[in-house]
Amino acid sequence: MHHFKYQKGVLQAEAVPIPRIAQAIGTPFYLYSHATLEHHFQAFDRPFGRVPHLTCFALKANPNLAILRIFGRLGAGADIVSGGELYRALKAGIPPEKIVYSGVGKTDEEIEFALKKKIFMLNVESPEELRLIDRIAGRLKKKAPVAIRVNPDIDPQTHPYISTGLKKNKFGINIQESLAEYALAREMPNLEIKGVDCHIGSQLLLTEPFLEAVGKLKKLVAAIEGQGLTIRVLDLGGGLGITYDQEEPPHPREYARAILQALGKETRTIILEPGRVLVGNAGMLVTKVLYVKRGEEKNFIIVDAGMNDLLRPSLYGSFHQILPVVKKNARRIQADVVGPICESGDFLAKDRTLPLPRAGDLLAVMSAGAYGFSMSSNYNARPRVAEVLSRGDDFQVIRKRETYANLIALEQIPAFLKDKG
Ligand code: LLP
Repeated sequence: MHHFKYQKGVLQAEAVPIPRIAQAIGTPFYLYSHATLEHHFQAFDRPFGRVPHLTCFALKANPNLAILRIFGRLGAGADIVSGGELYRALKAGIPPEKIVYSGVGKTDEEIEFALKKKIFMLNVESPEELRLIDRIAGRLKKKAPVAIRVNPDIDPQTHPYISTGLKKNKFGINIQESLAEYALAREMPNLEIKGVDCHIGSQLLLTEPFLEAVGKLKKLVAAIEGQGLTIRVLDLGGGLGITYDQEEPPHPREYARAILQALGKETRTIILEPGRVLVGNAGMLVTKVLYVKRGEEKNFIIVDAGMNDLLRPSLYGSFHQILPVVKKNARRIQADVVGPICESGDFLAKDRTLPLPRAGDLLAVMSAGAYGFSMSSNYNARPRVAEVLSRGDDFQVIRKRETYANLIALEQIPAFLKDKG
């Protein structure tokens, strides 16, 4: 469900006609709907209502401060994966006691930052990291709250680049081995063992892999508690999929019902780390047609956004629906929708049928709110695009378009290369 609809043939974000935004700030830009973001958070969070739980938005999907503020005001916590994300979450007003920190490569500085800020829990991904956290906490005279991220060896049946819970993936500690690590952790003086964590992958379209994970976690918790430890928190990670094309993922209500049922009479705090499901369909990338190039073998619609702005089609072969912002009755053509980047892999869509556009027409690349802007880059010295939030009949820029000056702001020409004057 989202609030992007046609009104008299013109695509609107809530009550704002999209051409109005393009006129005001130019293209390309990411556009998010406030009502959709709120709605998505509530649709996800509410079904867990009666159970002690914390919904920690996975910042990596979209770390814009305004978006974090929307979720924070609704009670969300944050799932972070770097010091930079911790900084962002805190700046957006997410309380540290609602922040969980995952990731296989936390540095000394990042661990120290997290401990000093008193976050809720660090999800530890290797035996070495566990020891390092204990040492750093000791130096800071603190108790580090930890969970071990276990790798339950479950096939989430998703794209191999975004499946994380298989033995061959780099994430977490093998479930058998983790039992020994919990026993060791218990003896480490500067750790407070809080919970057990897992995250098995992203864009999951079935509930079964989640339930399999819950089953394995429950067994593990029983074994850990058998060793005399108490586990107070179960972090089930993120991963619920969305509809990009024809996919039919479980509704968050169904997902919650299945998980709660699998958990049974659980009184521990449940942590969830949704990313995509909260923001994916609440955002789009608006781009302008520059040229239409008719070829013998293929037609190309060349637009002003490229793989540096939205990497998902190039990196994963992902499908994003593309809609004309203003409906037209033109004859339809089949074309690749491509950007201005100097790579053949620079495409937003392949062999897509669209009403023949003209230079200047606007296209909406849908479902781009998750892993869109957050994975964008300056490749080909392209300033990153603006981000806009619509609310009712109003819209606000929530990140300005970068300038050419921004592109070189951090660079320096060493003295030995400077011309002698
Ligand atoms: N928790 C952890 C530990 C994660 O690694 C992730 C995502 C999430 C939560 C959130 O997962 P979600 O609910 O969004 O599925 N760039 C890829 C997705 C990479 C996901 C990485 N981890 C894409 O564009 O599809």
